Amino acid sequence: MAACSLLFRLLLVLLTFSDLPAQILGLGVGINYGQIANNLPSPSRVAYLLRSLNISRVKLYDADPNVLVAFSNTNVDFIIGLGNEYLQNMTDPVKAQNWVLQRVQPHLPQTRITCITVGNEVFKSNDTQLWSNLLPAMQTVYRTLVDLGLDKQVTVTTAHSLDILGVSYPPSAGAFRQDLGEYLHAILNFHAQVKSPFLINAYPYFAYKYNPNEVPIDYVLFQPNQGTVDSITNLKYDNMLYAQVDAVYSAIKAMGHTDIEVRVSETGWPSKGDENEVGATPENAGLYNGNLLKRIEQKQGTPAKPNVPIDIYVFALFNENLKDGPTSERNYGLYYPDGTPVYNIGVQGYLPELVFSSDSTKNALSVFSLLILVIAYLISA
Ligand SMILES: *[C@@H]1O[C@H](CO)[C@@H](O)[C@H](O)[C@H]1NC(C)=O
Ligand SMILES: *[C@@H]1O[C@H](CO)[C@@H](O)[C@H](O)[C@H]1NC(C)=O
Ligand SMILES: *[C@@H]1O[C@H](CO)[C@@H](O)[C@H](O)[C@H]1NC(C)=O
Repeated sequence: MAACSLLFRLLLVLLTFSDLPAQILGLGVGINYGQIANNLPSPSRVAYLLRSLNISRVKLYDADPNVLVAFSNTNVDFIIGLGNEYLQNMTDPVKAQNWVLQRVQPHLPQTRITCITVGNEVFKSNDTQLWSNLLPAMQTVYRTLVDLGLDKQVTVTTAHSLDILGVSYPPSAGAFRQDLGEYLHAILNFHAQVKSPFLINAYPYFAYKYNPNEVPIDYVLFQPNQGTVDSITNLKYDNMLYAQVDAVYSAIKAMGHTDIEVRVSETGWPSKGDENEVGATPENAGLYNGNLLKRIEQKQGTPAKPNVPIDIYVFALFNENLKDGPTSERNYGLYYPDGTPVYNIGVQGYLPELVFSSDSTKNALSVFSLLILVIAYLISA
């Protein structure tokens, strides 16, 4: 067996990572770390992968302690999540406090939890009881954080699907669905009061998939194209994502708020789909995510908010083999579970190989890191 070569590569990896200075990347890209799969690498390996990618902002859909512990003392900022099944309980101050005490507080400050999303795409369900519980749950979690003195470091929000819009074009005419008006109005007041961002999951891919003959592919993929002009504002849009974000800004403004930032909590493109899922190819996914990364690096704002660099979490880190729905749902990942990239995103060659791949090598790694630390200590002493 090539144990020596494996050890040598581990050594390289360790040296490479220990060489990296602590970095503050500010508005670098974030990534959604979804775990609806039975074949994902351990969180400690994922920590290496993200570090090698320079990704320092991660969004989880839960508060998985295995992940939060594995990322302790790293420079990674976390958005953690409370699933919709928790909303009812989170309207109860005692249960909300227990959840924060058990799932959040023990990880602070060594793991940088900066935000809690209470519920995900709640208005996509038809369960109006869930709709009614959303804001009370957000408020109760927020009050708990205040009581524990954590509200300055951890903000409270929720993530919406773009379906909450009744009008999305032109962007300046953006408006929320009428049946959601009373709920969203109250939620916006909450955001303004506690100064937390409004999150949307925005997928130009869906617009293309359902209308491939009318939606120009270059416009959704951030490729050179003639763009569209908002006839009311005369603002020019060269891609659909920015138009979607500005439509949300308009909808918020129509409810009287100009004091709330819109952020993209999910966007992405599938590399594979069913026969009827037009456009789901590795080439398109590579263009979408690669072009998006370049724009994030340039700190671009949207046409309506040119001075607010758009804040984006790409969906997703890994393909997730246990997700329901069409084939595309299981193929949004930048990486296969074994750590190889699904496609080249074209922005620098920073796609590392995962060099250790089983629990026994993981243990070998920790023993080995310890050894390195001891040697380093002896050398410095
Ligand atoms: C990580 O970011 C730093 C500075 O932000 C940059 O110099 C470096 O090239 C990046 N590394 C990779 C692998 O992208
Ligand atoms: C909600 O609270 C009840 C009673 O404490 C508990 O049995 C149930 O498991 C909780 N639900 C969730 C999703 O945690
Ligand atoms: C919600 O209800 C509408 C019409 O009542 C239906 O078309 C839609 O499929 C339902 N959605 C879900 C997620 O159940």
